[in-house]
Amino acid sequence: MSDFDTIIKNGLIITAADRYVADIGIKEGRIAALGQALGNAAEIIDADGLWVMPGGIDAHCHLDQPLGDGAVMADDFHSGTRSAACGGTTTVIPFAAQQKGQSLRAAVDDYHRRSEGKAFIDYAFHMIVTDPTETVLKEELPALIEEGYSSFKIYMTYDDLKLNDREILKVLALARREGAMVMVHAENADCIAYLTELLEACGKTAPVYHGEAHSTIAEREATHRAISLAELIDVPVLIVHVSGPEAIEQIRWAQSRGLRVYGETCPQYLMLTATDLDQEGFEGAKCVCSPPPRDEAAQQAVWQALESGVFQVFSSDHAPFRYEDPKGKKLHGETACFKHIPNGIPGLETRLPILFSEGVIKERIDATRFVALTATNPAKIYGLYPRKGTIAIGSDADLTLWDSRARTTVRNAELHHDVDYTPYEGLELTGRPVLTLCRGQVVSRDGRLAGEPGFGQFLECGKPQPARPRGEAKGF
Ligand code: URP
Ligand code: ZN
Ligand code: ZN
Repeated sequence: MSDFDTIIKNGLIITAADRYVADIGIKEGRIAALGQALGNAAEIIDADGLWVMPGGIDAHCHLDQPLGDGAVMADDFHSGTRSAACGGTTTVIPFAAQQKGQSLRAAVDDYHRRSEGKAFIDYAFHMIVTDPTETVLKEELPALIEEGYSSFKIYMTYDDLKLNDREILKVLALARREGAMVMVHAENADCIAYLTELLEACGKTAPVYHGEAHSTIAEREATHRAISLAELIDVPVLIVHVSGPEAIEQIRWAQSRGLRVYGETCPQYLMLTATDLDQEGFEGAKCVCSPPPRDEAAQQAVWQALESGVFQVFSSDHAPFRYEDPKGKKLHGETACFKHIPNGIPGLETRLPILFSEGVIKERIDATRFVALTATNPAKIYGLYPRKGTIAIGSDADLTLWDSRARTTVRNAELHHDVDYTPYEGLELTGRPVLTLCRGQVVSRDGRLAGEPGFGQFLECGKPQPARPRGEAKGF
């Protein structure tokens, strides 16, 4: 009889706080021991020379999300979690989106049907609240939060999703009462509509003009307003997919005043710029997302905010639309105005390798900060800690073993999503996940799938337990 199901031997364990060499004993999907000479196990994994980190938590991604405009997402829970697993991620948190007029409960039930039996790794749901009726606010949301859906996203733009300030205040007050985490898509809808109208009127309809319509000023104003509304209610808030210095300054300012304002950014704001929207023909559509990628100075500001602790979370915002598909980026054809291009970029599988290579290997952030941004902080902020997001006795054995010296080149043909492109084609990276375990089971090996659909379990989220953000201070 073995002491453990698996022992991972001699790896360099890296958490958000520490790094040390030790063995990890795994029993029944959980970490049962950390130390030396742990005993025997049915399986021994030699991690000598490898870095052992908590499996990634991708706390912002879109899978099989029903959309009102005829666009169809390329990835469902099968292909999306397959791709995430191969990139070192062990938990995803996509969105159960309420359509206007729909009950929130119905949206959540529908999302369970879409995910059932398909996932290779564990998953929880955020909700998207688009119609905060009395019933939603007084009955559905409190009950759903209690049942394990303790975070939701609200939008300040997109006609079919946006809330007005009065609605935002009501939703924030509800979050305060029930202890939920509110994620905000902060862009000023009227500024974008106004600029879009002007651009369209002078024939500026190519994908590159998406970047001009979604001005940094529109992002800054909405970020400031979201912070002010949250301050009025005295509730934490998390600004998602922050693209550059204008919004970062607002978040840093709020944090310096002691407000519980959290920030998230994504690979596209580190790796892409507005020139990627300005490609031959319609190709720029591949990089259309909101907020859009900015310029090189913005990339530097985003790196600095990752390093200094203004951002707590690094997510993919994987929003999968195929390029060669009338239900994808070309929904309205190749000559369509930028305003009709489905917004979003794929990135579930490349999120961790990009931050590892560009951040840790190039010494812009250290490895403990990498773990905090990609696993520990999201687990704390979304109520999954300490079951997820760390390497500790009793935690789920969600582990990613990294070869910090391996060199790879991003090729869409080798990724496991169902999108027909990656904006990072040809990007050369150092460091790759060589083995990923979810609850002690190997789900990917050497960049290839090793798990089974249906293994992934739905996770009920507890109440968020984030530490107060510290802005310029390091750590979390
Ligand atoms: O362009 C983006 N970000 N698409 C995904 C939806 C969202 O707003 O996060
Ligand atoms: Zn958004
Ligand atoms: Zn998103």
